[in-house]
Amino acid sequence: MSKLINLLIQGADCCDPLSVSEYEKAGGFAALKKAAASAPEEIIAEVKKAKLLGRGGAAYPAGSKWEHLLHIEETPKYIVCNADEGEPGTFKDRLIMDKLPLKLLEGIIIAGFVFRAKAGYIYVRGEYRKLQKRLLTAIENVRAAGFLGKNILGTGFDYDIHVITGAGAYVCGENSALLNSTEGKVGRPRIKPPHLAEVGLFLQPTLVNNVESFANIPLIVNMGGDAYLQQGHPDSGGSKLICLSGHCENRGVFEIPLGKLTLRDAIYNPEIGGGIADNKKLKFFHLGGQSGSIGSVDQLDTVYSYTDLRKAGLSVGSGAIVVMDESVSILEYLKGVTEFFIHESCGKCVPCREGNRQILVILQKLSVLGAATSGDLDTLRRLIRTMTDASFCGLGQTAAAALNSAWKQFKAEFEANVGRK
Ligand SMILES: Cc1cc2nc3c(=O)[nH]c(=O)nc-3n(C[C@H](O)[C@H](O)[C@H](O)COP(=O)(O)O)c2cc1C
Ligand code: SF4
Repeated sequence: MSKLINLLIQGADCCDPLSVSEYEKAGGFAALKKAAASAPEEIIAEVKKAKLLGRGGAAYPAGSKWEHLLHIEETPKYIVCNADEGEPGTFKDRLIMDKLPLKLLEGIIIAGFVFRAKAGYIYVRGEYRKLQKRLLTAIENVRAAGFLGKNILGTGFDYDIHVITGAGAYVCGENSALLNSTEGKVGRPRIKPPHLAEVGLFLQPTLVNNVESFANIPLIVNMGGDAYLQQGHPDSGGSKLICLSGHCENRGVFEIPLGKLTLRDAIYNPEIGGGIADNKKLKFFHLGGQSGSIGSVDQLDTVYSYTDLRKAGLSVGSGAIVVMDESVSILEYLKGVTEFFIHESCGKCVPCREGNRQILVILQKLSVLGAATSGDLDTLRRLIRTMTDASFCGLGQTAAAALNSAWKQFKAEFEANVGRK
C-alpha cells in the first residue's frame, strides 16, 4: 500500500491550474460557497477541530490564531499569505502556487469572508517571478468568475487579493518583517507584543498564514474538521508536504499523512526518498530548513509528526528534509549553515549579529587539528544559549538550532581536533 497521500495535492496534475471552470468541475469553490453561507464561528470551529498547525515553520495552531482575530473588534482587518519561502531546502509552496493556485486563492478568500476583511495580500518570494505572474492571472480569472471583487456571490461583500514581490531577504519571511516589507518599509522584525492579530498590516488587525496552511482551508471546510483530523495525527490533522533534497535517490515534494510514517520511510521508501544515492550510507538529515535541527541514523525510527519529532529533539519546521551521506563533514556542513545566517542576519540585535560570526570563528578553529581549545567548546555552548534566549526575532533564536542538535549527535567530531585544555 502506498505510504503517500493525495489530499492537498489532489488535482495538481489533472487540469489547467488557471481554469476556474475546470477547478469548479472538480469541486473547487464549493468550500467558499459553504463558507459564505456560514457564520464565521462555524468555519473557525472546523479549523480548530482539524488541528491544523501552521505549515510555515512555527506550527502555531491555525484555529486559535483565527479565533483570536475574530474576537478583535477593530476594523478593517487584513489577510496576508506568507509565500516568501526563504527557508533553504524548502520548495513546497512553489508547487502549490504553480499547480494549485486556485486552491490557495480559495483558502485566502474563505479567510476574507470569515473576517470580513478589507483585502488580502500574497507576499511572494522575489525569485519566484514566474509564479507572481501566474498568481496575477489566477486572480484575474477568479475575479472574472465572480469569486473576487465587488459583491462576491451576491453577498454584498467586496474583497480583492494583491500580489507583493518579496524583498529578497530571508528575514522578510518572519511575519512582522514581512508586514513592514509589504508596507514598503525596511524588512526588519517588529517588537511583539502587540500581536499581529491586534496591530498588523498598516497597524490594523491581521491574519498571517503560510501558503500550505491556506491551501488546506478549502479541504477542511469541505470534509469537516473531524474527517481532516483523522487523515493525520491526533495532535495535528491532515498531511504535510515534505521537500526531499541532498543525497537521497529521489528529490522533490511528497505529500505524506502526519503521524503515519517514520523518518526512515521518508528517506528510504522507494516511492519517497528511495534511499541514499551511489550506495553510500546516511550520515545525518537536516529537518525544517537551516533553522531546524539535525538528526542522526539513531533517530530514523521517529514518527514524522509534530509531537513525535519534538519529543526526539527534532522538528517538522517548513517540511524540508536535507539528506547528507557519509562523505559529509558535520563541521563543514555547519560552517555553511552559519555563513547563511551571517549573511541573512538583519543586524538589529547583538546576539544574532555577533553570535553567528563568533560561532563561525570557533567552527573554523575546530576544523584544524589542535587549533581549538576545550574553552572554545564552552564558548560555543554559551553562544548557543545566549542567541537562543536573547535574540530579538526567530531568526537569531533558531540560528544555532542545527549546531545545538548536531553537537549532541556528533560530539566526537567536535572534540576530535581539540588540542589544548
Ligand atoms: C527568519 C524567519 C523566516 C521565516 N520565513 C518564513 C517563510 O518563508 N514562509 C512562511 O510561511 N513562514 C516563515 N516564517 C514563519 C512566519 O513568521 C510565520 O510564523 C508564518 O508565516 C505563520 O503562518 P503559519 O502559522 O500558517 O505557519 C519565518 C520565520 C522566521 C523567524
Ligand atoms: S535576531 Fe536580531 S539581528 Fe537577527 S534577524 Fe532577528 S532582529 Fe535581526
